[in-house]
Amino acid sequence: MALLTACGKDRNHPGYEFAPQMYVSKAYEGYTQVEGQKNKFNPFGMNMRLPAKNTVARRTYNTVFSKGDSTGQTTIRDLMVYNIGPNDLVKAEKELANPVPLNQDVLKDGEVLYLQYCAPCHGEVGDGQGKVGKVYKGVANYAGITKNAGHIFHVITYGKGRMWPHGSQLNPEERWKVVHYVNKLQDDLNGGSTKEEKKDDKKVEEKKEEKKAEAKKEEKKEEKK
Ligand code: HEC
Repeated sequence: MALLTACGKDRNHPGYEFAPQMYVSKAYEGYTQVEGQKNKFNPFGMNMRLPAKNTVARRTYNTVFSKGDSTGQTTIRDLMVYNIGPNDLVKAEKELANPVPLNQDVLKDGEVLYLQYCAPCHGEVGDGQGKVGKVYKGVANYAGITKNAGHIFHVITYGKGRMWPHGSQLNPEERWKVVHYVNKLQDDLNGGSTKEEKKDDKKVEEKKEEKKAEAKKEEKKEEKK
């Protein structure tokens, strides 16, 4: 008696297939590699090839960071999945809070990213006077905009008005770090402790002195008459 079976003892053999043309695709598919139909052009008959050397991987959205407290115990695990649509700025403002704990390391990372991606337009101090900002009209001065983290995060992600989206350049964690840094710049701008403002203050003082001196000269002239 002949025993008909598709499975054999050899585990490396897929067994016999009946009428494979019914279910094997003619077109190349990513993961299929069928004997006799192997890709003629790629090594080992692969359809998908390995990425070119030095390819940079798309970054993962699964972010883990510790709060940086002395115990080192508090760990936040955040998938940072962002499901708020481009037109839902108000929702972002209301519902989002910065999940990245604020500390010096985070601010430093935020600064590096800010200088790379934002400073050309917004300026190193956030006053909108970057090299590009001076030519590309209408760049916002951070001194005059909301500090709401969700708002800023949303603007970075999707852009706003004349500003382009940066969601593909910066992953969510990086964006939140930039938000911390933008908030810091806003404090500096509005607290008057930036280099630029100090320079401006100096100019104002100098002008005042000049005016005083002029006024004195005028007084002396008056006296002489
Ligand atoms: C090509 C220039 C350019 C770059 C680069 C740029 N921005 Fe902007 N940004 C603008 C302009 C222009 C506006 C004004 C948008 C408008 O209202 O038309 C703006 C506005 C903003 C606002 C205020 C939005 C509001 O509510 O009015 C924030 C916050 C902001 N940008 C953050 C950033 C951050 C953070 C980065 C870096 C990740 C960045 N921008 C990169 C040009 C730029």
